[in-house]
Amino acid sequence: MMDEAVLEALDAYVECLFAPQDEALEFTLSASRRAGLPDIQVSPAEGRLLQLLALMVGAGRILEIGTLGGYSAIHLARALPDVGTMVSLEASAHHAEVARANIEHAGLSEKVEVRTGDARKLLARMIQDGEEPFDVVFIDADKRGYPEYLELSLTLSHPGTLILADNTFRGGAVVQPADETSRVLHEFNLSLARDPRLDSILIPVVRERVDGLSIARVKNI
Ligand code: SAH
Ligand code: DHB
Ligand code: MG
Repeated sequence: MMDEAVLEALDAYVECLFAPQDEALEFTLSASRRAGLPDIQVSPAEGRLLQLLALMVGAGRILEIGTLGGYSAIHLARALPDVGTMVSLEASAHHAEVARANIEHAGLSEKVEVRTGDARKLLARMIQDGEEPFDVVFIDADKRGYPEYLELSLTLSHPGTLILADNTFRGGAVVQPADETSRVLHEFNLSLARDPRLDSILIPVVRERVDGLSIARVKNI
């Protein structure tokens, strides 16, 4: 469908110029690999884009749904001011433990709290407890949960909140959805595009394959 060699060369060029890796990020990737976590975190360039988006809205409170080893969390948390905070939700106790160590190593454990449990339940509890709204929400957990995570995120948002979601091309499969997960993601894309509460777009991001990042902003009215 696409010349992937060209896309990979462009992504490597962008990474080299705009998203150079440092010790803490490299430590996170190698510690995650050593601990047996799947190699499915955002790419360096996508991580940088997430960070830049958080900087652009002056985010002081960030919510992540799906922590894995903390690679995207570190990018996002680095956009926070000294007083900023981030909450990241992770179903796997093992992933959460690895992420906490990586976040600690990156010097961000004062700012980032990793909460273990099913995101649906954790989000419902946060809403019940009257948690303050977030400035940025990054949805990146189980893909079937995306429609529900969107609704719950909107409840934890304010006008201007950025709602971001990873993997929303599902490697291209949403164009002609042939499995349940792709159908759910296509429905998610449709509702994001049509939701009167949001201004939104879906952009390609390059990894081993091309995938997508959804970017939505909660409207002012
Ligand atoms: N955001 C990470 C990658 C997340 S991968 C990064 O880019 O660095 C998806 C993660 O979501 C996995 O760690 C998986 O365990 C977690 N997950 C899956 N289902 C979940 C659920 N129902 N609630 C919370 N986390 C979940
Ligand atoms: C995969 C990639 C992801 O970014 C993710 O959040 C979950 C799964 C994958 O390639 O399988
Ligand atoms: Mg992802």
